[in-house]
Amino acid sequence: MLEKLVINGRKQLCGEVKIHGAKNAALPILCACVLCDEKVVLKNCPKLSDIDNTIEILEYLGCKVTREEDRVEILNSGYLKDNIPKNLMSKMRSSIVFLGALTAKLGRANLFLPGGCELGPRPVDIHIKSFEKLNVCIVEQRGKIACSTDKIKGASINLPFPSVGATENIMLLTALSDTKTLIHNAAREPEIIELQNFLNKCGADISGAGGNCIVINGVKKLHGCYHSILPDRIEASTYMSFAAATGSTISIKNICNEHIEPVVFAFREAGCEMNFVKNELKISSPKKLNRIAHIKTLVYPGFPTDSGMPIIAMSAIANGTTIFEETIFQNRYNAIGALNKMGANIKIYDRIAVVEGVENLYGADVEATDLRGGAALVCAGLMAYGTTNITQLHHIDRGYENIEYNLSLLGADIKREKE
Ligand code: UD1
Repeated sequence: MLEKLVINGRKQLCGEVKIHGAKNAALPILCACVLCDEKVVLKNCPKLSDIDNTIEILEYLGCKVTREEDRVEILNSGYLKDNIPKNLMSKMRSSIVFLGALTAKLGRANLFLPGGCELGPRPVDIHIKSFEKLNVCIVEQRGKIACSTDKIKGASINLPFPSVGATENIMLLTALSDTKTLIHNAAREPEIIELQNFLNKCGADISGAGGNCIVINGVKKLHGCYHSILPDRIEASTYMSFAAATGSTISIKNICNEHIEPVVFAFREAGCEMNFVKNELKISSPKKLNRIAHIKTLVYPGFPTDSGMPIIAMSAIANGTTIFEETIFQNRYNAIGALNKMGANIKIYDRIAVVEGVENLYGADVEATDLRGGAALVCAGLMAYGTTNITQLHHIDRGYENIEYNLSLLGADIKREKE
């Protein structure tokens, strides 16, 4: 069913919003469940289409999955398939981490490559080269990838770039082995620490996540566990942008303060006041935002690429010029055309976006083109005069649970309608 979000802008937000579990932590943990011989119970698992797709893959592979609200139980039947059909694989790129999990468990995996996506080409060369160093034979042919190994052999791997997905894939490949593996220049994102914590609860022996070098001492068996997924730092930063864009004061609950740290400077520079108390942030925003001189996306603990687009949207009506530099993904700026249609003045020079603050934005009919770009359009709709209709909501539904419900509770005039 085609749906759209209809937003009548210029409403101040107030009250509180509770952040859900992190999509990017839940996805690799769900994949990791194929390694476990016993039931895994996950709490705080967000209700998102990416999670639904991953559950569909687990069921196809042979796991029994039950879900009630934010609780998901996964039981590996013991008879796993070694392949994932194209239609399931192509829905999201993160399914590539099934490669490591299935190869570890079965000694083989036959997957379709997830291909490029809205954000650009997104190759998997780092994953593949690392697997080869670990004695996995890889054959790539016509969009398919086949992995096989008689035995995973530990190695010291130096990643040329601290890829999140490659780090996760290597952790999953080597957690269940009888060998030791080191990942140098590993990704340091909180979701990597979360995967380590989850696997260790299941009996793995992994250390170092959050630092440059992760050490995996393979174990013979992984059992089940109970695990609550950490809060979504990107969802939190998106609600911070919504508050900033509308000159509002709101409380954002269920956050991990430390994980929000990399975006705090940008909101401070924009003129917002932030008070962190335990797992809650109160953000108060001025009527008119200041420009943010320069934001550059970097790997963690740098400024996260996923937080960028909503901040670009809020900067569209700031006092002065914000310079935004994207270093991780080529096509992050897909939504800028729609923001300009709403009256923004943003110019793109390769990886740099120059955001000249304007007085106001005006509602328009716009299409979400990717997940975070979609969130930027919601942000723009909240601050624009008149009505904004946003279509292609499947992009937004990949990463934001109940977005219109949460925003309505905060006082926004937003509803989901049939197109
Ligand atoms: C994950 C997140 C995504 C986030 C990104 C960066 C999930 C499900 N997704 O994506 O939301 O924006 O981290 O924080 O967790 N690259 C290569 N070769 C490879 C692998 C990556 O060239 O083999 C490049 C990518 O094209 C991209 C950059 O490295 O330009 C970052 O990719 P990576 O860190 O792997 O991100 P993902 O795991 O795909």
